[in-house]
Amino acid sequence: MENGAAADVAAAAVPRHVAIIMDGNGRWAKSRGLPRFEGHRRGVEAVRRTVEAAGELGIEALTIYSFSSENWSRPAAEIADLMGLMKRFIRNDLATLHAKNVRIRIIGERHPHDGEVSALLDEAEQVTQANTGLTLAVAFNYGSRSEITRAAQRLAAEVEAGRLSAADITTDRLAQELDTVGLPPLDLVIRTSGEQRLSNFLLWQAAYAELVFTPVLWPDFDRGVLEQALAEYRRRDRRFGGIGAATP
Ligand code: IPE
Ligand code: IPE
Ligand code: MG
Repeated sequence: MENGAAADVAAAAVPRHVAIIMDGNGRWAKSRGLPRFEGHRRGVEAVRRTVEAAGELGIEALTIYSFSSENWSRPAAEIADLMGLMKRFIRNDLATLHAKNVRIRIIGERHPHDGEVSALLDEAEQVTQANTGLTLAVAFNYGSRSEITRAAQRLAAEVEAGRLSAADITTDRLAQELDTVGLPPLDLVIRTSGEQRLSNFLLWQAAYAELVFTPVLWPDFDRGVLEQALAEYRRRDRRFGGIGAATP
């Protein structure tokens, strides 16, 4: 194999876009007799480690599920803790992430519930928008069904205004209306804590993503666990409906 082709194969082995359902903070805390807050606090430390590792491993985009549209159903005190941690994360880490050339994107619906969080998320996006390193997409108040519904509403409004015909609504056109527009195609979804479901995360984008489930609880996640997931990804034969590279 000539060098160019070898390099192509090596590059293809690293997923361009990885998404993580960061689950198990509460169970991590409970197993240690600690309050759930402690699990969430340690979860933020796992986010720092993972962002660093993802950049070093050559991943282009990392999407992290930080708060779902369904998480509003948790007790008010826990929601307040999670909002507090999100604010603290942006305040403490924005300068460092910016210095590391990380581009922050926010996906999900802005919620009137906490204007201060929204303002900080907007600031993080604006400050880092010209960066060219790892893209860190933070899914906050994110729900896939709501994302697709909002996209459909915008397209319907275009049709209503006479600027678009129904026949122009292709899969590519709809994808352009999703919050993830501009991110590379999703290659790999990792969920921690042993749960094996998507919980309303990137349903459209994950159509042909590989799914890796690990029993590791999110506060224990680190570069080693990420590398194990990437190794599992490399062993998969992605067929996209075809007959696949491994088939003679
Ligand atoms: C993930 O941990 C963090 C969020 C969903 C915000 P959990 O809080 O869901 O932890 P478990 O699932 O109760 O262990
Ligand atoms: C998914 O975890 C949401 C996030 C990781 C932010 P949950 O803990 O909310 O998911 P379910 O309720 O177990 O499906
Ligand atoms: Mg959970």
